[in-house]
Amino acid sequence: MHGYPHSGRLFFVKKVQDYYFKKAKQDNYPARSVYKLEEAQQKHHIIKAGNKVLDLGCHPGSWSLYAAKIAGREGLVVGVDLQKSTIAPVAGGARIEFICADIGADDFIASLSDKLPFQVVISDLAPRTTGHKFSDHLKSIELSRQALAIASHVLCRGGHFYCKVFQGEDFPDFVNEVRLLFHKTKVVKPKSSRVESREVFVLGVEFKGVEQCRAAAAKVQAEV
Ligand SMILES: C[S@@+](CC[C@H](N)C(=O)[O-])C[C@H]1O[C@@H](n2cnc3c(N)ncnc32)[C@H](O)[C@@H]1O
Repeated sequence: MHGYPHSGRLFFVKKVQDYYFKKAKQDNYPARSVYKLEEAQQKHHIIKAGNKVLDLGCHPGSWSLYAAKIAGREGLVVGVDLQKSTIAPVAGGARIEFICADIGADDFIASLSDKLPFQVVISDLAPRTTGHKFSDHLKSIELSRQALAIASHVLCRGGHFYCKVFQGEDFPDFVNEVRLLFHKTKVVKPKSSRVESREVFVLGVEFKGVEQCRAAAAKVQAEV
């Protein structure tokens, strides 16, 4: 009895996945994950022409390619990943620089010093998943916190942050941490993200700036 509706749902999920897979091929993107950025961009206008964008966990390059199209000739996209990527330049788009690095390395933020500041930090970082919900969530939250820490060092005041997270116990705390650093915070679930997936995206709009964040952190400490 229960098997029938379930297989119907699986069929629907597969159809949606096939749709985005085919669309990415037609649009010349190496991964269908591009639509998770495109949807947010169309609604929230995260990237603007001329922006410098830092793309954390960029391999195989769909987000960097899309960001380069939006940022245009005057912009710059810096993509970072553990895996080597060769991302072809986009005609009329921003230059794309690739850095092969671990974003958790001690010298990572310092290695970006000649490119600062960025107007946008996007992160599609994903840990190697084990299928164990809780540990996958913890690994994802750790990466998201690293991405947020990087954003707080490299963003200009008024800059934006768009970051993938796997929901779980620590998710509300993470959203609050983003809230401390940005004037507006939204949780976004793009249509192209599988309904049954725990992945969502946290958008931080208008970075408050380093001084204001330090003052807020000092106030919290003083109140404890
Ligand atoms: C879902 S993929 C990104 C897809 C990409 N946004 C695109 O559209 O082509 C996640 C990436 O995060 C990278 N990653 C995970 N942990 C990382 C780390 N500590 N430092 C750098 N990259 C990392 C993985 O190597 C993987 O390529």
